Amino acid sequence: MARRKKIYEGKAKILYEGPEPGTIVQYFKDDATAFNAQKKDVVDGKGVLNNRLSEFFMTGLNNVGVPTHFIRRLNMREQLVRSCEIIPLEIIVRNFAAGSLSERLGIEEGTQLPRPIVEYCFKDDALGDPLVSEEHIAAFGWASQQDMDDILSLALRVNDYLSGVMYGVGIKLVDFKIEIGRVYDGDFQRLVVADEISPDSCRLWDIESGRKLDKDVFRRDLGNLTDAYSEVARRLGVLPRTPMVKPTLIN
Ligand code: TMP
Repeated sequence: MARRKKIYEGKAKILYEGPEPGTIVQYFKDDATAFNAQKKDVVDGKGVLNNRLSEFFMTGLNNVGVPTHFIRRLNMREQLVRSCEIIPLEIIVRNFAAGSLSERLGIEEGTQLPRPIVEYCFKDDALGDPLVSEEHIAAFGWASQQDMDDILSLALRVNDYLSGVMYGVGIKLVDFKIEIGRVYDGDFQRLVVADEISPDSCRLWDIESGRKLDKDVFRRDLGNLTDAYSEVARRLGVLPRTPMVKPTLIN
């Protein structure tokens, strides 16, 4: 089969032209990066897990009425999504202090926040995705005021959905990052949740033990990343609960 046209290669995914106009194939790589790719590794199986987990979360969001770019999973590493114009912002929602918020404001990791805090970073690798305010977003025209109202509402709906789903399997949703895309339906444009939702883009802590089940395992060298992501997938029923038994050959 002729290889499709590559549209873009990022740190964790490759985008190919989709089979129909207005579609894109998202391929999940095994590459793991942190600190703006200063730390890099290949983690066997990460792409397969993130493809399945992102499918699970995006399908759930679509089912509860939160629009996403997700159409369907194609195979172990690829999914078909609607092509959209990505708004150049990383939208971060935090329920508990961790990571850069803890560092910036000196709040101990794990401290419950008085309410979900939404932050925006300008998507620019060369600048290290700097934190920006709504003033910057408006002044530089990255998104309109209407977009910002819609983005906030989408981000909080994703937070409610994800924290509920994770709580149901004994996991605390500490924070997460989403990206938002603009799609056109005839004359109308609307915003949808795009990119991916996976343990690469969330902080997930086991409620009982506090064990980290997200990319901090890689960022902070806390153990095996595939084990952590598999645990999340197993609890959500995305992978079989018991490890698959290797078939043994008779004779
Ligand atoms: P931070 O505490 O490092 O700012 O991260 C906040 C959340 O955003 C956390 O769940 C991890 C996620 N994240 C990404 O998805 N991509 C990134 O490049 C960074 C820095 C964080």
